[in-house]
Amino acid sequence: MTEQSAWVRMTQEDPEHSAAYVQRFRTLAGQGMDIVGEARLVDAMLPRGSRVLDAGCGPGRVGAFLAEVGHDVVGVDVDPVLIAAAEEDHPGPRWLVGDLAELDLPARGIPEPFDAIVCAGNVMTFLAVSTRREVLLRLRAHVAGDGRAVIGFGAGRGYEFDDFLTDASATGWAPDLLLSTWDLRPFTPNADFLVAVLRPA
Ligand SMILES: C[S@@+](CC[C@H](N)C(=O)[O-])C[C@H]1O[C@@H](n2cnc3c(N)ncnc32)[C@H](O)[C@@H]1O
Repeated sequence: MTEQSAWVRMTQEDPEHSAAYVQRFRTLAGQGMDIVGEARLVDAMLPRGSRVLDAGCGPGRVGAFLAEVGHDVVGVDVDPVLIAAAEEDHPGPRWLVGDLAELDLPARGIPEPFDAIVCAGNVMTFLAVSTRREVLLRLRAHVAGDGRAVIGFGAGRGYEFDDFLTDASATGWAPDLLLSTWDLRPFTPNADFLVAVLRPA
């Protein structure tokens, strides 16, 4: 049986957790804050009309931007409250409830592989530890042969960067580019954030 994501446990302990998260980003958007930096990086990697999977999409801020600029977006998230908010705020992309550790989009009528998979907002650090490699394998199974994954998360959240890179290598990914920010600063040994651009090995 798939071990539950830490995010799900947090929502069970605090039933307001998801609604507060949705509201936080609605407020930032309403204030005109830039909440799409990750999406701009992904857009720069792709020709328009590309197929993008927003893995752990939450309320959809990243996938929504990518859809608006002309990509074909599918977003998957384990939290139904966040998916409902994505559907309400950003109609257009396909927003699906699902655990990334069980991701099987062909079984849900989406057989085509993705040109890019984006996993922003520390999603990797919320995964149950026992599912990390399974999630990376599932993402690998959904990427096109010349596609890429862009995965970003912070240090000090329980998933060491070296462990992540080992897991990625063990699950069929090779690093194309390692950054320390979504605005393209190079990764350094002391970086407190990792943005890994991975390709199928
Ligand atoms: C901090 S939020 C980031 C949401 C979105 N990526 C963003 O950047 O706005 C972390 C997200 O990871 C999702 N998540 C955590 N574990 C997951 C899993 N096993 N499968 C799918 N989504 C998961 C949570 O539901 C939550 O939406």
